[in-house]
Amino acid sequence: MTEPSPAARHIMIGVAWPYASGPRHVGHAIPNLAADIFARYHRMVGNHVLMVSGSDQHGTPITVVADRRGVSPRQIAEENHAIIADAWERLGCSFDLYTETSTPNHARVTQDVFLRLLEQGYLFQDTMQAAYDPEMKRFLPDRYIEGTCPHCGYADARGDQCDNCGRTLDPVDLIAPRSKLSGATPEIRETTHFFLDLPKFTEPLLVWLDSHADHWRPNVVAFTRNWIREGLKARAITRDIDWGVPIPLEGFADKRIYVWFDAVIGYLSASIEWAARQGDSTAWKAWWELDGDPASAPRGYYFVGKDNIPFHAIIWPAMLMGYGGLALPYDVPANEFVTIDGQKISSSRSRTTERLPWLHEFLDLVDPDALRFALTINAPESRDTDFSWDEFQRRNNDELVATYGNAVHRLLKFIGSRFDGVVPEPGDLDERDHALLAAIDQTFATTGALLEACKFRDALVAVMDLSRQLNRYLEETKPWEAIKTDRARAGTALWTAMQVVGALNRLTAPFLPFSAARLSGYLGETDDIVRAPWRPLAIPAGRPINAEAPLFQKLDDLTLDGLLVRLQAAAVDTGGPV
Ligand code: MF3
Ligand code: ZN
Repeated sequence: MTEPSPAARHIMIGVAWPYASGPRHVGHAIPNLAADIFARYHRMVGNHVLMVSGSDQHGTPITVVADRRGVSPRQIAEENHAIIADAWERLGCSFDLYTETSTPNHARVTQDVFLRLLEQGYLFQDTMQAAYDPEMKRFLPDRYIEGTCPHCGYADARGDQCDNCGRTLDPVDLIAPRSKLSGATPEIRETTHFFLDLPKFTEPLLVWLDSHADHWRPNVVAFTRNWIREGLKARAITRDIDWGVPIPLEGFADKRIYVWFDAVIGYLSASIEWAARQGDSTAWKAWWELDGDPASAPRGYYFVGKDNIPFHAIIWPAMLMGYGGLALPYDVPANEFVTIDGQKISSSRSRTTERLPWLHEFLDLVDPDALRFALTINAPESRDTDFSWDEFQRRNNDELVATYGNAVHRLLKFIGSRFDGVVPEPGDLDERDHALLAAIDQTFATTGALLEACKFRDALVAVMDLSRQLNRYLEETKPWEAIKTDRARAGTALWTAMQVVGALNRLTAPFLPFSAARLSGYLGETDDIVRAPWRPLAIPAGRPINAEAPLFQKLDDLTLDGLLVRLQAAAVDTGGPV
């Protein structure tokens, strides 16, 4: 199984491209983690995975910050790209390519998609009324305008989207609009732009959605269906702005392609860039081109937050339909939101920090696997969840350390001291031993099925359940006592328990890759855990093992409070969030 079987599928895994307008906070890691778990699992199964993302560098999220700091948008984007890319790496996100939308390749692919859609009649030019700042003498794109949402009445809706009801907006829809640059009331002026003719895709989108509804998250299907049924409108895909992908036609030098139009194309352009870097410029096609056989069709999975659903489940699929010949999303496993201590980090008064920690600061202070565990086991897959310090501590101490790490460590130490660090002979297995061994195969089947269905938290619960069964087994068989009267029986229990440890090593690998790599070292494996197959690691009798250090550290109150103090200090240094 280490060699991909000929029937292996091509799986493109895309993760929403974060704006490089600032570092990202812990909650932003959730789609990345889900994608990473999915990618690691599929590599272990033997599928061909291509996992891509990068920094979303265009558009007003970046220019707003650049204007405020008085530097170029490129400088802001590059600075933050470096911080974010480094944080993903330290979190263990196994991207095949994490690139940026400011590359020449991305501009070329975006322009190609633009021209193809234009040729096919899916883009048209029209004049539109746009907001103009009479004081600054310039058009005001989306984010430079704030006002009241026409749908829900939220007072601080942005020109491109309402953060309260999630609807995408056009700046002209806003009630009582104001310029973010000058505070002036924008004037409405006429300007010419290109529009994506979304209404043309209504029927095909509904058919496509129906054909995938069986394996999508119900909340994502419902959201998408409602959105389409409310009536699709043509959307302007160019802007009066000078930072973005140029329009590949004469006469539009002062306009750029809209950031969202170019960002979703990033999945395709990153795949193409990846192939070029491999030295095989056509290698991307296996993840994108359709050859008519659904059994071997490539599948694209897009991991995003719920505010990104319309762009991944409607607009990008419509663009792909218009382009033709390329695979539409197979699934868009969007997450609901996670709040961190109900927005503020202050679940108990002694644990107050000025602001949320950035992901990279968090990773300076905690074990990445502990964070991966806490975020995954509480992931907002079907409803909003909250992440608090107390919760993080409890998950780490009571589950990761107590249920899994300690059981493994105790076992390895015991074999170290009483069996010279060598796995004992199995001897005669009884019913209880067989029952535990049977749980191994069951757990692989259950966990694999849940992972394929993108149910990551349930999958991790299933893995932890095997760990719980191991604990129970050890409490019942008590090898530490049995050894006093019946060394062979103790040996049987230890051998059996070690098979579960070998299984857990592989089962935890997608979720907790750092500790899985440490554990496989303790178990005498030399192969990289990333290339391990998705099946139990058999631990033969006679195998020397070691128990260097526990897999995880307990986080006591003193340590946690110390971390928070350091985070607070970092908050003062950086002046808080951008
Ligand atoms: N930058 C966008 C956001 O943070 C997400 C873009 S996802 C993309 O909301 F794939 F379209 F790039
Ligand atoms: Zn609203």
